[in-house]
Amino acid sequence: MHNRRQLARRCAFLAAFALLAAPVAPSIAADGITRGGTTFEGANTRYLLGGDWLFRLDPGDVGLAQNFQYQEAADGWTPTTVPNAWNAGDDSPPSMTGTVGWYRKDFRLPDTRSTMDWIVRFESVNYRAEIWLNGKRVGRHTGAFLPFELRLTNRALRRDGVNRLVVRVDNRRGPGDFPPSGFSSAGDPTGGWWNYGGLLREVYLRRVDKLDIANVLVRPRLTCAKCPASVLTRVNVRSFARRKTRVSVSGTFGDRRLRFKTKTVGGGRSGVFDAKVKLRRPRLWSPAHPRLYGVRLTVRAGGRKVQSYKLRTGVRSLKITGGRLRLNGKLVHLRGTGLHEDDKQVGFALDNARRWALVAQAKELGATVIRAHYPLHPQIHELADRRGLLVWSEVPVYNLKTSQLKRSVVRRLAVKQVEQNVIANRNHPSVFVWSIANELSSRPGPAQHSYIRRSAKRAKRLDPTRPVGLAINGYPAAGCRGQYGPLDIIGVNNYFGWYPGPNNQLLDRNGLGPYLDQVRKCYRRKAIIVTEFGAEANRAGSVAEKGTFEFQQDFVRFHLAVYASKPWLSGALYWALREFRVRPGWAGGNPLPSPPFHTKGLLHFDGAKKPAWFDAQANFKATNQLGR
Ligand code: GCU
Repeated sequence: MHNRRQLARRCAFLAAFALLAAPVAPSIAADGITRGGTTFEGANTRYLLGGDWLFRLDPGDVGLAQNFQYQEAADGWTPTTVPNAWNAGDDSPPSMTGTVGWYRKDFRLPDTRSTMDWIVRFESVNYRAEIWLNGKRVGRHTGAFLPFELRLTNRALRRDGVNRLVVRVDNRRGPGDFPPSGFSSAGDPTGGWWNYGGLLREVYLRRVDKLDIANVLVRPRLTCAKCPASVLTRVNVRSFARRKTRVSVSGTFGDRRLRFKTKTVGGGRSGVFDAKVKLRRPRLWSPAHPRLYGVRLTVRAGGRKVQSYKLRTGVRSLKITGGRLRLNGKLVHLRGTGLHEDDKQVGFALDNARRWALVAQAKELGATVIRAHYPLHPQIHELADRRGLLVWSEVPVYNLKTSQLKRSVVRRLAVKQVEQNVIANRNHPSVFVWSIANELSSRPGPAQHSYIRRSAKRAKRLDPTRPVGLAINGYPAAGCRGQYGPLDIIGVNNYFGWYPGPNNQLLDRNGLGPYLDQVRKCYRRKAIIVTEFGAEANRAGSVAEKGTFEFQQDFVRFHLAVYASKPWLSGALYWALREFRVRPGWAGGNPLPSPPFHTKGLLHFDGAKKPAWFDAQANFKATNQLGR
């Protein structure tokens, strides 16, 4: 009896596996594979893995992804496309809490030569991903908003015929994740924005012919606005060859030729190639004049061209002197807005058009700076470079409890987030600060101090040209904090006259001015930027009633008038540009809220303008933001 049952189980498993091993074979174009990508930057050997994907939820799969056994369901798959947020539009608590979903993609390799190696690249998966190719595990990853790559081994790859890529995505997060999540005392899921699950940004295949440009750094140095600039271009080339290879790199920066030394790179090793150019009269980048330089690179293996890479970057100088931020030597008074890559229909799975719209709205508002709580989509960075928007670039170390920060593994992973953000986004002239967190405890202890020290050190080692910052709760009672010593910029989230704050210290909005003066005194040598101020508005009504358009208008005017009276303030960003989904039960200080929506936006979720939009726009346009 026992053997018969064993035999039946083995047959069932093999049948499932056979289903896996021999899927139907559609043609490549029909596979939705297109050469290139949604961004300008990248190698000429990348392919967008678009077109038809399949998706299925797996609420029954409660197991955490420890050595998860691969078993593929035969049915329950529905067609989808990627990027995808499977729970966009589902505003229920379980949707916010998260679950497990599976993605499946059949494709044929665009190039079947056996000499080619292949990499799969995910731009952003929320939150824990497990990846298989043709039933063989190729890797896993934890964390969203930053890209990761996995090599597709020969063992897994099918050169002729159809490959099946399967991704298990678990968007349940814990208290030590980025951002953290948990439950309120009422049992509601917590979080500062909706926990969209899925392949939230593009997926690529990358072909490697012996050598791969693993990373490019373009670092302009400009000692003063009228000085010549020197530009270092550093190319990290990884060899996929077994034996050593004679590698040569060539390229251009604008119309200037880049000269790299040819080197021999060992099999499976990497080589770093540097070239420097001097620009006598550089064309400087600023939001008013977003001048860019094209960079083109080519790698040859033993003289044979195997890959090329292109990007655009800009030259500008960023300095903090006497507690003031200078861009290209000029003192700035930036005005801008925070935002989420959120959309009512598709959630965080924005497409090009929606990303364009977001940047266009910020420009129309008269903003020179934008901020998000996580690294923005690469295309938004490129649009900010091209359209002229500075980017406060932050990692989702968001409202992390001190009890979590006390765990060395959490601190280490948070520092890793900062590192990966710098490496992913340092070539964008738009990025002007590396922000290591948002609203950690306003009374930092040793754990937070250690995190601030280590993440600032890491960011500066990787990029000595940009300041490091942190967004804090603007609480007067917090006083001056020596633990912020390693930072260059203090971002202050200001809600005077909106939230009461601990012990009602924010209740009276007239406390705003004196509080800012206190911050100025505390951190004389650091630049101060108001990283958030905002008021919910979802109805018309009295100016005295919180939650009305009229109250929001008055709030915006008041705050901007106070900021205009602080000439030493380097910037102020309204929170937020547009409405977005937060969580079930969100009130955000509004007595008549519209949960789960955050309605502090100057734009409704569909982009319609609220009255306060025009007040902010008029002020932003009248402010000399970029100095004389
Ligand atoms: C915080 C937080 C935001 C949040 C805002 C608010 O400051 O950083 O993510 O949306 O408060 O309460 O509106």
